[in-house]
Amino acid sequence: MNHPDTILILDFGSQYTQLIARRVREQKVYCEIHPFNQAVKAIENLKPKAIILSGSPFSVYQEGSPLPDLSIFEHNLPILGICYGMQVLAHLFGGKVDPAAKREFGKAIISIKNPDSGFLSGLPASFQVWMSHGDHLTAPPTGFTPIAQTTNAPFVIIEDPVRKWYGVQFHPEVVHTEFGADLIKNFLFNVAGCQPTWTPESFIQTKIAEIRKQVGQDQVILGLSGGVDSTVAAVLVHEAIGDQLNCIFVDHGLLRKNEAQEVEDTIRNKYHIKLKVIKAHDLFFNGLAGVTDPEKKRKIIGKLFVDVFDTEAKKVEGARWLGQGTLYPDVIESVSFKGPSVTIKSHHNVGGLPEKMNLKLLEPFRELFKDEVRVIGAQLGVPDYIVQRHPFPGPGLAIRIISDVTPEKVRLLQDVDHIFISELKRQGFYKDVWQAFAVLLPIQSVGVMGDERTYENTVVLRAVTSVDGMTADWAKLDYDFLGFVSNRIINEVKGVNRVAYDISSKPPATIEWE
Ligand code: XMP
Repeated sequence: MNHPDTILILDFGSQYTQLIARRVREQKVYCEIHPFNQAVKAIENLKPKAIILSGSPFSVYQEGSPLPDLSIFEHNLPILGICYGMQVLAHLFGGKVDPAAKREFGKAIISIKNPDSGFLSGLPASFQVWMSHGDHLTAPPTGFTPIAQTTNAPFVIIEDPVRKWYGVQFHPEVVHTEFGADLIKNFLFNVAGCQPTWTPESFIQTKIAEIRKQVGQDQVILGLSGGVDSTVAAVLVHEAIGDQLNCIFVDHGLLRKNEAQEVEDTIRNKYHIKLKVIKAHDLFFNGLAGVTDPEKKRKIIGKLFVDVFDTEAKKVEGARWLGQGTLYPDVIESVSFKGPSVTIKSHHNVGGLPEKMNLKLLEPFRELFKDEVRVIGAQLGVPDYIVQRHPFPGPGLAIRIISDVTPEKVRLLQDVDHIFISELKRQGFYKDVWQAFAVLLPIQSVGVMGDERTYENTVVLRAVTSVDGMTADWAKLDYDFLGFVSNRIINEVKGVNRVAYDISSKPPATIEWE
């Protein structure tokens, strides 16, 4: 996809590189992340308007530290070096980088020396920033002057207004840096001269044209999962090619209560998209009968899914493409922390189906983060209850039943989960958590209901906050809210007499229980 104003972010292995991309895109400017050692190719392909050099766990003076090809500095492009990125500029262009005598990690207050710089436009005389590196500059690179400092570090922001090169010692992309978004905005618009043209409308229009050109008269198959990404992908691809899109929805019976029906209604009735729903409950329950091992459950579900999908997909004549809701974090090539070698993250595809069926991949969201897909979905009129839906694992409720899976257990868990989720929504907490769900334990315990002794099931409620699912914290939900939900569950779901709340973070726990 070609964008008039693209920012190239060169990744040197910082844990914050994706955040830089988020901050740039929030300004309606398109950007891509590429490993530092593929900079030459990236410049050739993207024709960027400016370059941002990311941070890194390395020190520039360390043997084998990641350094870009020098030719990238010969294109007269504006550059913003962030932390290690700034140290790269100093190291290569006549400055000096040393381990700081007094290390500044975490919060620091900076004072501005040159308020007239366009890079600092609209910022107060001093504000708080977030530092995360042991090194700092003891001499700026040639042609640069310092425009902000701290008490310990004289070169916290440096500029070369002639070349339009800038360096910041801290991380403007993290929320702990006050006015970080303003600094990025100033770089994009005041320094690099970008226009804020990358909007949801422009994305949709450009993608529709691109999909039409790519696909031509071919048929496209798209597997719906009930989640945000595949549903929004279906709607977008349908806008582009109408009835050449064939959606297949394998309902394995392990989804949340009502979810299968909601997806079917939206896709079929609201958008009139061709949809084949395969109700395969019995097949999956039979396959899972008696299985307790989590990995075995996943393998069985994965294999059955591929078998069913494959059989259905083969019935679509003229199919050349497999549409998928793959997101940007799945395809970014990341720089490894151990050394400047490049690893490629594996793509989420339907178990090798494209190769097996000789299909080409159509992935309209390869360039987007999940939040951006939500915005596109809202723009395309996809209902809020789908667009804002929490992530849900492919193997579904099977990995939230900590024992063998039966239809009765699934029904019980669906009812418990439904009460939890609908109360989160009704009381306004749903959007505050990344994911919330219930787990059915293989444990009975003693309780009392009326005058009767009970001996029934325990369910665990889990709600976590997270930005990407990689790390997570348990959500500090209100006690009264939890008490209310617990009462409803025990009163309304037969077979449950005890509710617990999971207060483990990830790591060391994981989000799911299996
Ligand atoms: P964990 O449990 O590893 O989960 O902390 C991280 C995120 O991934 C989701 N998850 C899955 N998603 N297939 C999926 O599509 C899976 O097998 C699977 N297992 C975990 C989980 O719900 C959380 O959002």
